[in-house]
Amino acid sequence: MSRRGMKYPVIAIDGPAAAGKGTLARQLADTLELPYLDTGLLYRAVARRVLDQGGDPAHDGPEQARQLVPEDMRRTDLREPEVDRAASAVARHPEVREALLERQRHFGRARGAVVDGRDIGTVVFPDATAKFFITASAEVRAQRRYVQRHGQPCMSPAQLAEEVAAINARDQQDASRETAPLRPAEDAVQIVTDDLDAADVLDRVCQILQEKGIIRR
Ligand code: CDP
Repeated sequence: MSRRGMKYPVIAIDGPAAAGKGTLARQLADTLELPYLDTGLLYRAVARRVLDQGGDPAHDGPEQARQLVPEDMRRTDLREPEVDRAASAVARHPEVREALLERQRHFGRARGAVVDGRDIGTVVFPDATAKFFITASAEVRAQRRYVQRHGQPCMSPAQLAEEVAAINARDQQDASRETAPLRPAEDAVQIVTDDLDAADVLDRVCQILQEKGIIRR
């Protein structure tokens, strides 16, 4: 598989929590030999700083976003449930989003990139070479997130219900904010992944990129 024509393509991958954007984006970046940017990590790192400083994610974040350094994104404690919630809270502040915007654009412009997040196709790279919106039902996403965190499927209905509630709450918060809400760009290709595994999703995306003339086999 190779890229053709476009020197620095930017592929935008958006979607709700735990839809498999990260897995797809990483595999696609490997396949196309493009850098990969997980923009969720930026919001998680801001949230982590706020929590570490004893701040309130509903009110704090802009200062922490401006202070962000690359080491913040390499921390190993960015994927805890507490950080899921705090990241979604700090992501509501327009000043936080503004502070992170140029960083994301700069990364993508330098050598092209596969970029995953919530507003990549709508706000960060409205002119992206290709845009995908990856979704699945809340139940499927909750199961996937549970396996990711615990290394085994969630067996108890109560655990599953708790995970579904957390995912729905975060999606609701992400979709209802005024600045850069979670929503598909008009020109995004939507892929529902309930019945697809990671390899199927990658295949489908590569097929679409081929049809669009962005890559060739
Ligand atoms: O991996 P998961 O889908 O659970 O979340 P993530 O992509 O790491 O994003 C964590 C949180 O950051 C989201 O719930 C959003 O509130 C926020 N986010 C955002 O607002 N815009 C982005 N481009 C990426 C993440």
